[in-house]
Amino acid sequence: MKILVIGSGGREHAIAWKLSLSNKVQTVYVAPGNGGTARDKNIVNIPITDVVKLRQWAQEEQIMLTVVGPEAPLAQGVVNEFRAHGLRIFGPSREAAQLESSKAFSKAFMTRHSIPTASFETFTDIGAAHDYVNKTGAPIVVKADGLAAGKGVVVAMSLEEAHQAIDFMLGDAPSGVQHNGQARVVIEEFLQGEEASFIVVCDGLQNVALATCQDHKRLNDNDKGPNTGGMGAYSPAPVVTAQIHAKTMREIIMPTLKGMAADGVPYSGFLYAGLMITKEGAIKCLEFNCRLGDPETQPIMMRLKTDLVDVLMSATQSQVDRDTQGVVVPSQGLPARPSPRSVISSPHVWPALDRVDLDWDRRPALGVVMAAKGYPQSPEKGAVISGLPQDTQDVMVFHAGTSEHEGVLTTSGGRVLCVTALGGTLKLAQQLAYKALDSIVFEGAQYRKDIGFRALQGAKLD
Ligand code: AMP
Ligand code: GLY
Repeated sequence: MKILVIGSGGREHAIAWKLSLSNKVQTVYVAPGNGGTARDKNIVNIPITDVVKLRQWAQEEQIMLTVVGPEAPLAQGVVNEFRAHGLRIFGPSREAAQLESSKAFSKAFMTRHSIPTASFETFTDIGAAHDYVNKTGAPIVVKADGLAAGKGVVVAMSLEEAHQAIDFMLGDAPSGVQHNGQARVVIEEFLQGEEASFIVVCDGLQNVALATCQDHKRLNDNDKGPNTGGMGAYSPAPVVTAQIHAKTMREIIMPTLKGMAADGVPYSGFLYAGLMITKEGAIKCLEFNCRLGDPETQPIMMRLKTDLVDVLMSATQSQVDRDTQGVVVPSQGLPARPSPRSVISSPHVWPALDRVDLDWDRRPALGVVMAAKGYPQSPEKGAVISGLPQDTQDVMVFHAGTSEHEGVLTTSGGRVLCVTALGGTLKLAQQLAYKALDSIVFEGAQYRKDIGFRALQGAKLD
């Protein structure tokens, strides 16, 4: 079968790489892809980003399954567009993707369905927002309502920082994030504890959890410096014990899937709950992402032994059945009738998602991100990359902001590479990843030297 992956980051390279290992797959296409996916023998880059053009291309090419990597096309309704034309696609509808694309939507949803989260208030009025933080004091967290590419959250340790964040997000500045034409902020209680990424594969109601993971969001060693999309990650996350796992499923994941279905917006796709685990063992959901994490995906894909094609075909089966039976979910604008020339029929029978068991490599995996000079504020592009080690079963270099022209690889984005290794212990995985990274050269490269330190020291919940 032919498979399409939408996106261009390290997450998409890892997803495409994993899918391409399946013996059911003829070609994996990545739109638009990067320098790493361009080099891979079984992967082909497609230079299309427009949602409608992509859908037309997928129909012409008889793409059996499409997997969406990043949040932006989901918020634009790529899943609605593909499903309305009878294509099989894994990801939430535009309406369900509001769990990530609108902080106000997700906070109101969590409150309505009693899902534990930081207490909060929502504001559109700048004066009311300033008054509120004066009353509550700092530390406090100010979040822009809308997709902000990692720049929409300010953890304000002082009142001054909180006021500045409110001015930035609700003021007249063009940098203010708009949601449905209106700037809004969520101001919420500051929580302390250990963070973990908890990601499940969902088909509308059933789900299967992926291996646990933790990322390092700050730019510099010892979790110092500005927030980034993530400078490294490892799996498993020791902080997610069997009890924490069960409690997360019980208190966060299941109520979310039931709540979305009850609200008429069933959730299919990867669901990523950002957890804060307090030292008392309470779990709060900091945020939802409607996609896999980046760089969490890279170590998770290295550890996954099950064929990802089987998992995602099972995860889309009930949705395909609904679409082809013509069941209409009004809020999602799905077709009233099956598409007459559906390309989503497949000769295989895929078991329901609740019958799928995931098999994991017992070894931990750890990925170190190499970022461009100037990341995250203003990354420089165009540096020549050399010294890439040969990929092996245990060490992979996943590409993100790279492009290739006539065999020369250059930097083209903030996060450039993620060097990911499997090792008998987390320490060994760390050593292998840093050893592979040692040979890679590009001007201004920055990376953290301590990825995994929290797990290696024993996570401190204080
Ligand atoms: P979010 O995009 O909502 O996950 O926020 C990005 C990062 O900001 C999180 O990974 C946390 O490190 C931090 N953060 C968000 N909300 C809170 C909170 N209520 N208390 C403390 N830190 C937070
Ligand atoms: N690494 C965090 C994220 O993907 O949102």
